[in-house]
Amino acid sequence: MMSKKSIGIFDSGYGGLTVFESIAKLLPDYNYIYFGDNARAPYGDHSFETIYQYTLECVEWLFAQGCPLVILACNTASAKALRTIQQKVLPVKYPGYRVLGVIRPTAEVIGSYTKTNSIGVMGTRGTVKSESYLIEIHHQYPELNVIQQSCPMWVPLIENNEHVNEGADYFVKKYIDNLLEKSGDIDAILLACTHYPLLVPKMKDYLPEGVSLVSQGDIVADSLVDYLNRHPEIEGELTKEGEMSFYTTGDNLVFDHNASIFFPGEVVSSQVRLNCGSSKK
Ligand code: DGL
Repeated sequence: MMSKKSIGIFDSGYGGLTVFESIAKLLPDYNYIYFGDNARAPYGDHSFETIYQYTLECVEWLFAQGCPLVILACNTASAKALRTIQQKVLPVKYPGYRVLGVIRPTAEVIGSYTKTNSIGVMGTRGTVKSESYLIEIHHQYPELNVIQQSCPMWVPLIENNEHVNEGADYFVKKYIDNLLEKSGDIDAILLACTHYPLLVPKMKDYLPEGVSLVSQGDIVADSLVDYLNRHPEIEGELTKEGEMSFYTTGDNLVFDHNASIFFPGEVVSSQVRLNCGSSKK
């Protein structure tokens, strides 16, 4: 019997579900495996080596489940691990497998969201420090003014399901104010962390009029459609039975509860223990 081939979607935790939701809406026929490394999230403050090692382990796990194509639905992993995986690991160990990130597709279209030519980029410390967005956006739009702001408290709030509570307001306002103090011209803010769309309702309370928020889900989904059209050799390998499976290194019941916001009634996840010890935090 031919084994099933799924599209793998990876994030450090829940954030990638904001991207997976858009992908599943646009491309409902494929089979998908979502893998959240919740036990080791957040990734944002870890060293390059740690983020690379964690990401590679998760990608290899998805390959082993029969995913010839993996999307890093995580900006931090895309900034810190994608290039090394694509250039050093795949050609040697996994020829024929593909790993895609979220930064380039976002940078390619971000210029169309601003009229003032000033974009705010909010992300984890790892993403901001990597300067990946500065480099990629300036490559596409040299004239754009890009102002970055790291938001280290946002992912922990979301991973702990505290983002809907009052305590979150302090940190939501603080990072928005910090960003907007750096430039009065910003008219669009890119949520350069796949967790952040969960904070949009609160963010709207603190944004001045005329400043819009850009989430990545639909951008990444559109770029996946384009990728599959351009790569029939990968597209043709994929099973089209519309199945979704969910895995986490964390507590699967907590995962099911939190993930059901995106896929009501459809999430029954399984817990994965990775070799290097998924209990490390
Ligand atoms: N969703 C991840 C991102 O897009 C969060 C990273 C983290 O775990 O800190 O960067």
